[in-house]
Amino acid sequence: MTLQIKSIEQYQEAYDKSVEDPEGFWAEQASTFLWRKKWHTVLKNDFITPDVQWFVGGKMNITENCLDRHIATRGDQDAIIWEPNEPDEPSVHLTYRELLAEVNKCANALKSFGVKKGDRICFYMPMIPQVAIAILACARIGAIHSVVFAGFSANALAERIKDSQCKVVICSDYNRRGPKNIPVKDVVDEAVSMGCDSVEKVLVFQSTGGKVMWEPNRDVWWHDAIKGMSKECAPEIMDSEDMLFILYTSGSTGKPKGVVHTCGGYMVYTSYTFMNVFQYQEGDIYWCTADVGWITGHSYIIYGPLLSGATTLMFEGVPGHPDAGRFWHICEKHRVNQFYTAPTAIRALMAAGYNAPNSYDLSSLKVIGSVGEPINEEAWHWYDEKVGRGNAPIVDTWWQTETGGIMITPLPGITDSKPCFASYPLPGIQPCILDANGIELTGNEVEGLLCIKFPWPSILRTTYGDHERCRSNYFAAFPNMYFTGDGAKRDTDGRYRIIGRVDDVINVSGHRIGTAEVEDAIDQHSGVVESAVVGYPHDIKGQGIYAYVKAHHEVIDEDHFRREILAVVTKEIGPIAKPDIIQFVSQLPKTRSGKIMRRILRKIASGESDSLGDTSTLLNPECVEELKAGALV
Ligand code: WTA
Repeated sequence: MTLQIKSIEQYQEAYDKSVEDPEGFWAEQASTFLWRKKWHTVLKNDFITPDVQWFVGGKMNITENCLDRHIATRGDQDAIIWEPNEPDEPSVHLTYRELLAEVNKCANALKSFGVKKGDRICFYMPMIPQVAIAILACARIGAIHSVVFAGFSANALAERIKDSQCKVVICSDYNRRGPKNIPVKDVVDEAVSMGCDSVEKVLVFQSTGGKVMWEPNRDVWWHDAIKGMSKECAPEIMDSEDMLFILYTSGSTGKPKGVVHTCGGYMVYTSYTFMNVFQYQEGDIYWCTADVGWITGHSYIIYGPLLSGATTLMFEGVPGHPDAGRFWHICEKHRVNQFYTAPTAIRALMAAGYNAPNSYDLSSLKVIGSVGEPINEEAWHWYDEKVGRGNAPIVDTWWQTETGGIMITPLPGITDSKPCFASYPLPGIQPCILDANGIELTGNEVEGLLCIKFPWPSILRTTYGDHERCRSNYFAAFPNMYFTGDGAKRDTDGRYRIIGRVDDVINVSGHRIGTAEVEDAIDQHSGVVESAVVGYPHDIKGQGIYAYVKAHHEVIDEDHFRREILAVVTKEIGPIAKPDIIQFVSQLPKTRSGKIMRRILRKIASGESDSLGDTSTLLNPECVEELKAGALV
């Protein structure tokens, strides 16, 4: 099992070793796992092409490490505890032994469909145990999972299915989210009908028993598929560098890209970080509230905890259902020891029930975490006082879909937790801050672009089907560096504070959204000439979406037009990308080369019209007054 850092001295020692001898450091960590064949080379380090490989030549299967390896020592321990949407329904417990049997049955069912190593399988699922079972079933047989958040629209789902040519889609009939019951199978039907010719089977878990359409040659009920399937399924032996999964995420330009993670390095890094960041102890109950459609769900609901032999809690519902005490009720009910959530949830719960945590026994909590976006000071203090209550330090964890695992974070009880600071890099992570010219700003009290100088085991390997995009996005801005897209500061003690994205990505309720995608969606409306989308500070969501829209004709009924635009965005992407504010304009500010000057739009949307800076380089400086006068903030 992964070694845990227990003191500041051990942290310093591990960190120093990871920099002086990264290969030795990671080889030691990797040797705690089950390998069918040992690697011959620890690291291939090429940040230019890029071509990064870890544990090269090693053979393994991640599910053997998540499941089989634990049967002898913890076969009867809960692997997953599932808490349903409705608090009065019973929770479900799956032991490691039971989980392995379910995974194998599902793996055999997938095999019976003809799924083979390397095939891509798309997921569009609610937060139910079957999502974990099916993800592990894919990994068992070497199929590559591509989980799509079940809040995306049919269009967005179809785009992702086509990009990676998925052979099977796994979904449920419905998805219960608080008071809503969303017909997800309908969305899958619609998506598949949009030219997803690669899809041979749709595997449907009956979650609510609601009515669905049925395509007999294509659709298979989960319960029928696993009927009679063996509980044994030999794991496919994978190369360390074989793909484990694809996860689509937004960038500053174009369509979402499929971030690719591979088996060996991802396994070592997610487990190492899980054990250290949450200081998980034998018997603890760990709960991460993320959705499995995002990287946090992959790394810290499923893989990291199960690799570490932990008990991981999954929750089907939403924080406010039936009331703002639900999270705290679940913590009390299951005696949760580590709790990991997003600032947007913290802010929403703080607003809806400032004193709600007081009514619950939260004494089991030992560590509380935050992820996905900067946490503001007020929310940090509320979380610390009302939820942590002096017993549970906050770990403000910074990382990304592309990094696979947590990169910069306090270690609870080991390094101090300072409000709004992700603090120190984990062993193996070598961050640096660059100025706009790519010059490294050494010393403390500096601010600039956050880059990472050296590979770590779970760094993305490529973007699916388009390696050049991976190179140009992350490795081309500054030679020999991974560029994060985030801005950061370092304080006098060397702690990092993440400021936010420096590119055209915005972070809405912890969801990454590319402004270009939202613009493309808005522009689909026949009445729209062009649009520009920027983020602006939002009390609950962190950032809200502000859209400036230029219409073909004078807009008579603004509200009606706004509703139509929201409908188009919902159809193209999903409700999470709906603009909060739409301002109609007669022109957008353009540079002489025809580019939209977003700096000005961002300032106006943020209520900072007084500090627009130099606008004289605009092609159409006269538009600025109109933009300011029409601002809706
Ligand atoms: C932001 C989520 C501040 C950041 C794991 C990053 C954060 C993007 C933090 C990645 C944090 C994540 N403090 N900002 N603790 N964690 N971010 O890919 O801008 O969904 O680049 O991965 O979220 O979002 P993603």
